[in-house]
Amino acid sequence: MKALNARPAWLALATHYAQIGSTHLRDLFAADPERGTRFVLEAAGLYLDYSKNRISGETIGLLASLARDCDLYERIAAMFRGELINTTEQRAVLHTALRAPACEQLWVGGVDVVAQVHCVLDRMSIFSEQIRSGTWCGHTGKPIRHVINIGIGGSDLGPVMAYDALKHYSQRNLEMKFVSNVDGTALAEATHGLKAEQTLFIICSKSFHTQETLTNALAARAWSLSQLGDEASVVRHFVAISTNTEATAAFGIAPEQTFPLWDWVGGRYSMASAIGLSTMIAIGPARFRDMLAGMRAMDEHFLHAPIERNMPVMMGLLAIWNNDFLGASTQAILPYEQYLSRFPAYLQQLTMESNGKHVTCDGAAVGCDTSPVVWGEPGTNGQHSFYQLLHQGTRLVPCDFIGFAHSLIPCQGDDRFFDNQHDLLMANLIAASEALAFGKTASELYAEGTEEALVPHRVVGGNRPSNTLLAMRLSPHTLGALVALYEHSVFTQGVIWDIDSFDQWGVEFGKVLAGLVLAELTESEHVALAHDSSTNALIRKYRHLQ
Ligand code: F6P
Repeated sequence: MKALNARPAWLALATHYAQIGSTHLRDLFAADPERGTRFVLEAAGLYLDYSKNRISGETIGLLASLARDCDLYERIAAMFRGELINTTEQRAVLHTALRAPACEQLWVGGVDVVAQVHCVLDRMSIFSEQIRSGTWCGHTGKPIRHVINIGIGGSDLGPVMAYDALKHYSQRNLEMKFVSNVDGTALAEATHGLKAEQTLFIICSKSFHTQETLTNALAARAWSLSQLGDEASVVRHFVAISTNTEATAAFGIAPEQTFPLWDWVGGRYSMASAIGLSTMIAIGPARFRDMLAGMRAMDEHFLHAPIERNMPVMMGLLAIWNNDFLGASTQAILPYEQYLSRFPAYLQQLTMESNGKHVTCDGAAVGCDTSPVVWGEPGTNGQHSFYQLLHQGTRLVPCDFIGFAHSLIPCQGDDRFFDNQHDLLMANLIAASEALAFGKTASELYAEGTEEALVPHRVVGGNRPSNTLLAMRLSPHTLGALVALYEHSVFTQGVIWDIDSFDQWGVEFGKVLAGLVLAELTESEHVALAHDSSTNALIRKYRHLQ
């Protein structure tokens, strides 16, 4: 197969970019008064305005041709069918089965995976209700009040993001904490002042091999036993989520307290699986199922909507356009909703671990840039730190703005004070996208009487692309739709680049090296080191400082 950047559909986009690349968004909007209502999409309760991208109708047509040329819809169908699309690990990729309704069946390798999913969901529901109602008691007979999720990467970022996002819906007499870092400070701070008799640990690790998680799990067990003093207490205070039930049993967690997942759920795609147990305990099984329904609504849309009406496909194709043709190497995620403060961090792993790849599925060089660097902060905080660069810096940073028509705060009544605050928040979101797109020209500044010497400093070039996502309010359903939207946008980008979006060999390499260095840090000073001179010197320095 021809390299992506040598294919006619790609070359047509390159030619088109040469023609349209310097056209300003001001001119695109001036030429088409309907643009702001034409380049919009609605799906699963989300409204996407993508009109402030540097595109024309022709751009969309050419991106759609590229998607067709890359067999996007065949690849989507293959994923939903359970084909082994994670080729380097020979695995199916079926996070979409996690949100399929119980009435459906999906047979993979002679097993109905949807039935398996619902069996685990039912077990999670029973356990969550026991914790929430206080009928699950700790070793001394007291109800659980603190739940600490121990996991890292996909076994942490989804749960912590979802807990923060849906805190408004959570049972407030239960406190959730999340420990990921192998830095002992994290667990020490999370357990500080807590009573072990009222603390439940969820040990979340798909592999149950991850060094950070196992280290923290052992430390948590030692902390718990230091207060409870009885090995028998472990069964009341530790549950596990893993595919590796042998390892969870060896850790001392009974099979009844182990909630399985499957090798076809990637870590960064796992928040709808048992990895989401902390979410379910926080918001309850019914709301967790609402979140699954939101994901499912977006899954259905992704599977069936035609390219030009398909929200995740369009977002994925626009990301390709911005990344590979406009040369933007980063992407900012800017939620104007404090509850979504961890959403950018969640999308960092989803996007960068999935698409930070340099070769195609066949092992050939991709030939163009792959995943952008994803970063972001909630608005309006970001406006007072890094937006200066977004408006006037020399780098192009496409932005995704995310906002809601209603705040969750005044939903008990119509308190005008909070309503005004929400209007203020949303005014800032809408104005930020306008400022980025249109900027301020020198002639406008002169017309306002700006002092000549200041004009160049105050000119805001504009022409900076952004998407705006709006929804009614942040709910479990909306969050589910939002997560699935980005999952499928990432998938779309991976298909265009023809990379395996579901492996992470680079991370595995880092883990192996860390294991080797760990052994050397603790060995005697006289043991020879065989790294490069910098690594050798750092190890010696650390040993010396110790
Ligand atoms: O960071 C690498 C990684 O393998 C992620 O993909 C995964 O989410 C994380 O480690 C944790 O893995 P596990 O759930 O197996 O502990």
